[in-house]
Amino acid sequence: MLNRKLLVTSALPYANGPIHLGHLVEYIQTDIWVRFQKQCGHQCYYVCADDTHGTPIMLRANKEGISPEELIAKVWGQHFADFAEFGVAFDNYHSTHSEENRVFSSLIYTRLRDAGHISSRTITQAYDPVKEMFLPDRFIKGECPKCGAKDQYGDSCEACGATYSPTELKNAVSVISGEKPIEKESVHYFFNLADFTDMLTKWTTAGHLQPEVSNKLAEWLDSGLQQWDISRDAPYFGFEIPDAPGKYFYVWLDAPIGYMASFKNLCDKQGLDFNEFWAKNSDAELYHFIGKDIIYFHALFWPAMLHGAHLRTPTAIFAHGFLTVNGEKMSKSRGTFITARTYLEHLNPEYLRYYFAAKLSAGVDDIDLNFDDFSQRVNSDLVGKVVNIASRCSGFIAKRFAGLLSATCSEPALFADFINANETIAGFYEAREFGKAMREIMALADKANQYIDEKKPWLLAKEEGKDKELHDVCSMGINLFRLLAVYLKPVLPVLATEAESFLNIGPQAWIAGIEPLLNHQINGFKPLMTRVDADKITAIVEASKENLEKTVDKPKVKQFELIAGTIDFDDFAKLDLRIAKIIKADHVDGSDKLLQLTVDIGDETRTIFSGIKSAYQPEDLEGRLTLVIANLAPRKMRFGVSEGMVLAAGPGGQAIWLLSPDDGAVAGLRVK
Ligand code: MSP
Ligand code: ZN
Repeated sequence: MLNRKLLVTSALPYANGPIHLGHLVEYIQTDIWVRFQKQCGHQCYYVCADDTHGTPIMLRANKEGISPEELIAKVWGQHFADFAEFGVAFDNYHSTHSEENRVFSSLIYTRLRDAGHISSRTITQAYDPVKEMFLPDRFIKGECPKCGAKDQYGDSCEACGATYSPTELKNAVSVISGEKPIEKESVHYFFNLADFTDMLTKWTTAGHLQPEVSNKLAEWLDSGLQQWDISRDAPYFGFEIPDAPGKYFYVWLDAPIGYMASFKNLCDKQGLDFNEFWAKNSDAELYHFIGKDIIYFHALFWPAMLHGAHLRTPTAIFAHGFLTVNGEKMSKSRGTFITARTYLEHLNPEYLRYYFAAKLSAGVDDIDLNFDDFSQRVNSDLVGKVVNIASRCSGFIAKRFAGLLSATCSEPALFADFINANETIAGFYEAREFGKAMREIMALADKANQYIDEKKPWLLAKEEGKDKELHDVCSMGINLFRLLAVYLKPVLPVLATEAESFLNIGPQAWIAGIEPLLNHQINGFKPLMTRVDADKITAIVEASKENLEKTVDKPKVKQFELIAGTIDFDDFAKLDLRIAKIIKADHVDGSDKLLQLTVDIGDETRTIFSGIKSAYQPEDLEGRLTLVIANLAPRKMRFGVSEGMVLAAGPGGQAIWLLSPDDGAVAGLRVK
């Protein structure tokens, strides 16, 4: 499809806190997709904004002794800088506290009201008599009505999981003043979502949503749609409702309208036609990238609001999962609640862009940032495979051929293989299967390295009369590197731009019609990316730990470290220690610590992953006898299930010795 027109958004981050690595999953995902669309030559706009309204922002400003306007201006600057440094290239980054947003919020509300979709009634709510304000559920704490747990929020209990209304909490207090809340009546305005049941039933099953999202919504639709409370009483930081003085739009009403506001702001700056993208009959595509926690707002309220206000509805909503760090929810005490800024102070943002790309799919599964995996992938894929190609070839081109590439493409078939991969890779980018795209690209990088390994330019360079071949091989390597840089450009814009200047070529569009660079002058090579420094990761975690002294972390016992203390004989007797014969030993793809062992323990064979790679080559192990713990519960590891443990001793590194009997024992003997 040529000449597509696309408008793409990411969810608007709240203006009351910093951008963290969890947020960045979304902004990096969207940015990669948008960069890909632009590289293909489509007319694509990426807009976002800070989500500035609501009680938490108002209260935080109070606490800091500044006005909400001052707070949101300060945070806007921080968010904007964080995004820019991570290469998230919005065409416009606006604010929901803007004139455009006020106008559109009023317009949509008025249209909904005039069509009869708004009603009002009096409700009773918790009220802080000291602060003179109604209290959102999260600003009330007390004892859980079900299990009695103390210090629980007004909507749900973290101890037993019960959900309830704030009036049911026992001994409730206002989090703001510490006073006991009273109950107070007030008129609220509601959006009659149920008016849109038919429309939403159709819309949520018409291919605008991922299948798993659409199924979830079917459950919600089946249980009946409720009226949505869209008003809040003063004091509230937000927009006053046009025909209801003292009442404000609830933050979630004007937040998605912020997408339109940001785009309008862009249209005014660039002379674009707003209606071309938002009118009911628009033929432009509209995409919202969001996290799975805000599906309800985007896949029910938002299409209903747009439809009710005679505007176009989204082409698709793309939800993603949540980020965990080292397998767990981000946590301040563990140092895994990492802000964008802390990361930027220590590591290259393109490492994270690549890592997220390698882990992302089109689904809503959570994704895990595992620091070992992170270093390993960046080091082996980007530094070891991609950049390595250029560094292996560029020295010869510079020194022996004055920076001029060969006039012939010596391996047209190999070059064609690289070009022909473009449709598959483009398909994966388009479908948000970035992990698959990265695997495809790395398979090409492997091919390029194999080619260089076979041709051995470092040997050609020493032989007489091999100049032409050396020139061809290195030029070929450089040409293959160039294609890899083009394919990686949506993910690694800085690396790609530096590669373009090294290659002395202009900004590279998506691949169609690319010819090899022949007889072409290139520039001197500077290392485009260096390995992840493990110390930097430690520094990030340390810098992210809050109140270190307060958290009592269990001491972590390092592998191979002596453990003090004694155990009972009974504990010892529980161990099923056996002589095992190592039948097979293999490297583990993607691990620089582990070997995969197949061992015979007498009555069965087991697979055991053992962290002894630093000390042993697989071939040295096959056929050897060793000692294993045979009754250790199987452990699921990233690479497979480990069904036991091999015993070894030593401080680590090369100094690890597998324990093995040398008196002719046989596999299966129990150790007494
Ligand atoms: N302000 C609302 C969105 C309004 S959109 C009209 C909001 N803001 S947020 O700051 O809490 O989140 C912004 C986006 O980041 C959301 O899509 C959210 O799902 C995503 N993420 C926040 N934490 C996240 C993780 N830990 N992991 C992945 N995405 C996360 O919601
Ligand atoms: Zn409870």
